[in-house]
Amino acid sequence: MIDKNAKIYVAGHTGLVGSAFVRQLRKKGYTNLVLRTHGELDLLRQEDVERFFREERPEYVIDAAAKVGGIKANSEAPADFFYVNMQIQQNLIWTAYKSGVKKFLFLGSACMYPKQCPQPMKEEYLLTGLPEITNEAYALAKACGTRFCSYINRQYGADFITAIPANAYGIGDNFDPEHSHVIPALLVKYHNAQQRGEPSITLWGTGAALREFIDTDDMADAGIFLLENYSGPEPINVGTGEEVSMLELAHMIREITGFRGEIVTDPSKPDGMPRRLCDSGRIHAMGWKSSVPLRDGIEKLYRWYLAQLKDGESV
Ligand SMILES: NC(=O)c1ccc[n+]([C@@H]2O[C@H](COP(=O)([O-])OP(=O)(O)OC[C@H]3O[C@@H](n4cnc5c(N)ncnc54)[C@H](OP(=O)(O)O)[C@@H]3O)[C@@H](O)[C@H]2O)c1
Repeated sequence: MIDKNAKIYVAGHTGLVGSAFVRQLRKKGYTNLVLRTHGELDLLRQEDVERFFREERPEYVIDAAAKVGGIKANSEAPADFFYVNMQIQQNLIWTAYKSGVKKFLFLGSACMYPKQCPQPMKEEYLLTGLPEITNEAYALAKACGTRFCSYINRQYGADFITAIPANAYGIGDNFDPEHSHVIPALLVKYHNAQQRGEPSITLWGTGAALREFIDTDDMADAGIFLLENYSGPEPINVGTGEEVSMLELAHMIREITGFRGEIVTDPSKPDGMPRRLCDSGRIHAMGWKSSVPLRDGIEKLYRWYLAQLKDGESV
């Protein structure tokens, strides 16, 4: 077990995933968190990262710092996504190893899996094919970070591990239609349609495509579980095992937002991959299970969104 006073550095703590780790660590009684905003420590600057580790000497590191974006941003700026993510993880992983960090948790992403991956996606399918072209640069950089942790583990016996979470949603999510993921995007769409009393909403595709989503607090809970209980070079998937079709998801969000109109599918638009599901058998066998059903997680996110709107904040 990890001492509750151990010094834990959460890189990227202001982000969607990093902020969930901070909430969950505090909830579990971890008291000695080291946090730096992007402005205080630019992880692209190797010397600054080295100075930070020399001065602070964190014992554990959770790496939730990354350049993350939607399809549009990823396709328009692959060089930026590749450079920034490679550089952040190179600096963090190597400096953490050199400064004797006891354990390092790297966060990969389910988008690292090949586009044509057999389903459900097992950890050993990583790097057996090219990822989806629209986020290839990001996914390849993340896959390099995953392998880098495995190499350090194998060569030096250091406890550097990787979690591969399913698509995440949660408190702090981005609701800007230009940048949002599917769940916040649908929440805004249905919320606005409900407010305006619109008669119907069109859902792209047939609605049959199956997807898996994980609440960020649930994901952070799993990440801390792995920090406390897992050592090894193999990455570990973190999913709920709960699959939902896009049409079921739309209906769930319709009910949550109170939208009364119809949902009309448009089969002329693409469905995307028929199924994207992480095989979370390994983490389940270790004793971790998801505790946030999708509907509960989305309801929590919607309440948070409404509270932000009430406070007049843009979300
Ligand atoms: N969101 C998901 O669905 C999902 C799913 C699976 C895995 N993950 C993984 O979780 C990690 C974090 O994702 P996220 O969705 O939480 O992203 P996010 O909300 O954009 O957060 C990224 C964090 O990294 C910080 N950051 C970026 N560049 C930095 C730099 N040069 N120096 C210091 N800090 C920097 C950001 O600070 P600023 O905002 O101030 O720049 C922010 O705190 C990623 O590795 C991602 O692969 C995410």
